[in-house]
Amino acid sequence: MNPHILHTPAIDLDSCVIYQIYPMSFQDSNGDGMGDINGIRQRLGYLTQLGVDLLWLTPIYRSPKRDNGYDVADYHTIDPAFGTLAEMEQLISDAAARGIGIMMDIVANHTSIEHEWFVRALAGDPRYQAYYVFRDKAFVDAHPITSIFGGNGWQYVPQLDRYYLHNFDASQADLDWDNPAVRAEMAEVINFWLAKGIKGFRFDVIDMVSKEWSRLAMSNGPRLHDYIRELNQASFGGKGIITVGETWGADLAHMQHYSNPNGSEFSMVFNFEHLGLGRDKWSSHFDPLAFKRAMARHQTGLHGLGWNSLFLGNHDLPRAVSRFGDDRPEWREVSAKLWAMVIHLMQGTPFIYQGEELGMTNRHWQADELRDVEAINYRASQSELDPAELGRRLDAIGRDNARTPMQWDSGPRAGFSTAAPWIVLNDNHVAINAAEQRARPDSLFHCYRQLIALRKAHPVIRHGDVALLDEEDPERISYRRRWQDPITGARHTLLLLANLTERPLVMPHFDQVEKGATLLISNYPGEPAATFAPYQATGWLMTT
Ligand code: GLC
Repeated sequence: MNPHILHTPAIDLDSCVIYQIYPMSFQDSNGDGMGDINGIRQRLGYLTQLGVDLLWLTPIYRSPKRDNGYDVADYHTIDPAFGTLAEMEQLISDAAARGIGIMMDIVANHTSIEHEWFVRALAGDPRYQAYYVFRDKAFVDAHPITSIFGGNGWQYVPQLDRYYLHNFDASQADLDWDNPAVRAEMAEVINFWLAKGIKGFRFDVIDMVSKEWSRLAMSNGPRLHDYIRELNQASFGGKGIITVGETWGADLAHMQHYSNPNGSEFSMVFNFEHLGLGRDKWSSHFDPLAFKRAMARHQTGLHGLGWNSLFLGNHDLPRAVSRFGDDRPEWREVSAKLWAMVIHLMQGTPFIYQGEELGMTNRHWQADELRDVEAINYRASQSELDPAELGRRLDAIGRDNARTPMQWDSGPRAGFSTAAPWIVLNDNHVAINAAEQRARPDSLFHCYRQLIALRKAHPVIRHGDVALLDEEDPERISYRRRWQDPITGARHTLLLLANLTERPLVMPHFDQVEKGATLLISNYPGEPAATFAPYQATGWLMTT
């Protein structure tokens, strides 16, 4: 392998921007309708133009793909659908040559039941049975667990007369992290990928690895932070690696622990509160006030004490413009720009989910088009629900929305593949696609480029403190950020003002824009005035 990979400079957490690739749906290079590693290599030019620093790939390990790769059968091999280990090494090397790092997804809470460990456990090997959470009937009766994907979280194995725990699909068996051998295996997996030149890791549902049986709690268990610190020391710690934990259950105190600036755990975590998906995500609606309160709490609570991730979407979430913004054709682009500005001018590390930079949207799903195990299970479990309401929920929340193929151009397969894709394309690729937006300077794609460049250019975006103004106003988002240059003493103030409604609205803080302020970015042409147009947003910089 290329020796220079290991010597590329560490990626700087303060300024880095991460792009999430869902490899199955990014680019197909071999005409089988499924994206692959060589497809990603072909699109490195696009990613370089966008200006991102790190590519998070959702799992590409060998997997039966019941849960699209989050059911790992072998952490050391690449699934043949995606390519080979040699192609992966080539991707790492090609990306490094462009100054881009690769972030691997570590699925440490569970394995596929096709993993060798589980196969050996079923064959009766006690060493591997102790890798998983096998329990007898009395224990299971006393500890009922509902799977996150629906149904009983315990699966009976007749030949062992025992049950194994699966918090997700029955094909995803939970590992027992209280067993030190399991923790050592995971450190070994990470070290294997570090040696290949990987620059970052995303830890899948990591807050679930320590379980608390007395409270029947599957997340935030008593040993959670001990286990993460141990893993940090045994693998990625102190090596300039960017890490992010997926933690649905993290409150501010946990977030401070996880992202402690002393580097003992992760660089940051994903907290999902701002999405408003709540307890019953299927019937949830976006609430701008809840968004603002969550952002205010996290931005203030982690300033100097931890680090935020900043994101609007991922492969499990609705398309950002459909969830937060207004995806009707006349407003789609301007509202997607607004939300990009709101997120990218805050403190933390922005994550862009593939297609978000084009304003890709949710779509309307027919039952036979669904591919996601969660949506399919949910649909099957909701026979009581009014079918029209069920359809609305799947259209608004279903994870397949984020998994339709990347819209590269207006051609019949959107430039994604030469064959029929594994999942249906969104018809709107005719209008919404990368080719059109790269050629048009005022497109959403170029707005994202500009936001990434601004983060690199302005220390106030990287380091400034954050004050949300009018936190209880549901129609506007306004915030102020301040940073003083320790060398020159100059004070920099950034002011973000955004009208969240489709009506013109007076912006009360517009009078804080001083004479001589620089308009850093705007989603409307021309000079802004105190009354903002629908979904108008502006970012100003003032230096004294
Ligand atoms: C995470 C992943 C999701 C997966 C689940 C189980 O939430 O993001 O896609 O289904 O973990 O691994």
